[in-house]
This record gives sequence, structure tokens and C-alpha cells, in this order.
Amino acid sequence: MKPALLAVSIAAIIAVAACSGREDSAATDAPGGNGAVSSGPVTVENAYDIRHERFEGMGDSLKAINRELKGSAPDVARIRQEAGSLVSAGEQLPSWFPAGSGPDVHARSRAKAEIWSDNAGFSRVHANFLQQAQSFQRLAEAGDVEQMRGASGALGKSCGNCHESYRGPEK
Ligand code: HEC
Repeated sequence: MKPALLAVSIAAIIAVAACSGREDSAATDAPGGNGAVSSGPVTVENAYDIRHERFEGMGDSLKAINRELKGSAPDVARIRQEAGSLVSAGEQLPSWFPAGSGPDVHARSRAKAEIWSDNAGFSRVHANFLQQAQSFQRLAEAGDVEQMRGASGALGKSCGNCHESYRGPEK
């Protein structure tokens, strides 16, 4: 892994680890992305809670993938499952950001105004993430651990790319 990629994926892991709040401890080993706030439409009022829960799930999925890939005998079935969760979360992600659901309404939100004022840029980093998640999922389906190890840095980096531009500082 190139140092730059390594740094970014470490940053992504730290960002994930630093996220405190109301997650229950069961989330740590449960597959990500299947939380309780899952049904019904995303509204300005519930958007932050939905984002919080779904992003936590994405963090759990990425952590589980990296943990498996670091081990000597990765659980490929688990990696496939988490990669699938990341793809489906990635497909839904734009719908978690209805206009007006930023920090004006949700004090704890770190969503930057640029998500809406520069929506083309946000769509680009989102599309890049989705593409990375989908190609990682294809590698997971094929089951080649070395290829997955090679691709995991770019996957984490594609999370970080969006956070760099569209997520504000910690509150
Ligand atoms: C297209 C943009 C985008 C992508 C891609 C993205 N995120 Fe985020 N993420 C955000 C934004 C914006 C927030 C802040 C949301 C808020 O506070 O309202 C956030 C918040 C988070 C949080 C904090 C949740 C909380 O409420 O405490 C975690 C954890 C997280 N993201 C993990 C990830 C992981 C892991 C990936 C990739 C697998 C990822 N994100 C991909 C934009 C993105």
C-alpha cells in the first residue's frame, strides 16, 4: 500500500473510531447497515438520525473487512456480506441528505453546506465511492484475498475523499 493511501485509510479508521454516541455495543460485531431506523422515508426531521445510524453501520462494515483482511485466514463470506452492505448503503446514501437537513436543523450534524451548494461535486465523490464499493464487492465475490487486500486502501480512501470536502470538523 502506498503511504498516502495508508495514511488516508488510517484516518478513515480513526474517524470511524472517534465517532461516539448512542451506538449499542452489539453494533461492534453485527453486520453493518441493518439498523433499527431503517424503514420509512427520509425526511428533514429524521435525516440526521438516519445518517448517523447508517454511517455507523458503514464504519462497522469497513472495520470488519479490514480486520478480516489483516488476519491470516480471512472469512471471505463475512467480507462478501459486509461488501454487500456497503454497496447497498452506497446506493441509498444520496437520499439521506434532503435539502435543509444540515446543522441548521440538527445541531450535531457535521454535514457541510457544500453538499447542497456544490451538489455536482458531492455526486462525483459519491459516484466514486459507489464504484469502489462495487468493484471491491466483485473481488469479494471472486474470493481472491490478495486482490481484496490490494483494493481495500482505495475503498477506505473513497470514504475519506467525501469526508474531506463535505464533512465538517468534529463537534
Ligand atoms: C458522498 C459522501 C460520503 C461518503 C462516500 C461517505 N461518507 Fe461518511 N459521512 C459523510 C457526511 C457528510 C457525514 C456527516 C453527516 C452528518 O453529521 O450529518 C458522514 C459521517 C460519517 C460518520 C459519522 C457518523 C455520525 O453521525 O457520527 C462515519 C462513521 C462515516 N461517515 C463513515 C463512513 C465510511 C466508513 C464510509 C465509506 C465506507 C463513508 N462514511 C463514506 C459523507 C460521506
